[in-house]
Order: sequence, then structure tokens, then C-alpha cells
Amino acid sequence: MMNDVITLHKPKAEDGMDLFELVERCPPLDPNSSYCNLLHCSHFAETGVAATCNNRLVGFVSGYLKPSTSDVWFVWQVAVDAEARGCGLAKRMLKSVLERQNLTNVKYIETTITLDNKASWGLFKSLAKELNAAIEEEPFFDEQKHFKGKHNTEYLVRIGPFS
Ligand SMILES: CC(C)(COP(=O)(O)OP(=O)(O)OC[C@H]1O[C@@H](n2cnc3c(N)ncnc32)[C@H](O)[C@@H]1OP(=O)(O)O)[C@@H](O)C(=O)NCCC(=O)NCCS
Repeated sequence: MMNDVITLHKPKAEDGMDLFELVERCPPLDPNSSYCNLLHCSHFAETGVAATCNNRLVGFVSGYLKPSTSDVWFVWQVAVDAEARGCGLAKRMLKSVLERQNLTNVKYIETTITLDNKASWGLFKSLAKELNAAIEEEPFFDEQKHFKGKHNTEYLVRIGPFS
């Protein structure tokens, strides 16, 4: 895998079920319904990206422009298949979306991360550094208040402003 070429493309509905399976292979990500993943690959295709290697989906970033804001890209999930990790793919995917013409107004990235997800903190801190942007975090969805004790607290991470 490491020596094979990984190409990026704007998601299409036909990627939906492959995304569903990729997310299942990528704990601790919450699995979604297949319908939800189909929406990410269709309605939200402009703000997501898919990565393939030898016609197999090995990476995906799903996200959307945050409603009622004009400059925030909210990243929902970042998934990279185990054998494709550690080669910069996650960061490459995030940057490729930021470079899109339709996202030139975006000045902030937001996402949520649980405290124990070291890889995700590493990824977004590294991205903030590369973008030369501030990074802030605060509790967002609380384990007790919002998840009824069934999920760790999700921290809202905000990176920006960047140009
Ligand atoms: C998180 C994940 C997407 C990272 O993918 P990746 O392609 O290996 O990440 P990259 O190679 O682009 O690494 C980007 C940065 O994150 C850091 N990073 C990646 N994995 C890390 C880990 N396990 N621990 C600490 N830092 C890590 C890297 O050091 C790198 O920083 P650098 O460029 O400054 O050295 C991948 O591990 C994954 O899919 N995990 C399971 C699902 C998940 O937790 N997703 C994130 C929640 S949205």
C-alpha cells in the first residue's frame, strides 16, 4: 500500500456503501447508517473528499459548511484505513478540500474530538500548525448532559482564522 498511488476525488453516491464499510473498519469512529453515508457522498460532496488506492476506498473526510455561518467548515469524520496511516493522507485530504474554489470563504475548521483520541488530536494540531492558525477547544457534547453516559464528552476544536 505504502508504495501504491493514492488518488483523491470528490465523493459520489456510488462511494456511499464503501464509506459505510470504511467507517466500520475505523474505530473509534461511530458507525453511521448507510443512508447517512449516502448523504455525505451526495448532498455534502462539495465539502468532503474520498481517497482510493487500486480502486479501493482507503480514506474519507466528511463535512459540511456549518449552517448559519459563512466561514466555518465543520469536519464530521476523518477515516484512513489502517494500512494507509502514517503517510500524511489525512492531512492531505483535509488540505485538498480547503483548496477548493467553493471554500475560499472558509476561515475556520471546526470538529469534535474525544479526549482519548490521540491520533485525531495529533492530526488537527499538526494541521493548525501548518496553517499557522490558532487552535482552541471546549467541551461541546457532554457525556452526561447530552450522551446520557453512553459516549465520552466530545470537545469542540476550532482552528483559525487562516487564509
Ligand atoms: C486519525 C487518522 C485519520 C489519521 O490518519 P493518517 O493518515 O495516519 O494521519 P496523517 O499521516 O495525515 O498524520 C497527520 C498528523 O497527525 C499525527 N498523527 C497521526 N496519527 C497519530 C497518532 N496515532 N498519534 C499521534 N499523532 C498522530 C501525525 O504525526 C501527523 O503530524 P505531522 O505531520 O506534524 O507529523 C487515522 O489514524 C484514523 O483513521 N483513525 C481512526 C479514525 C479516527 O479516529 N478518526 C479521527 C476522528 S475524526
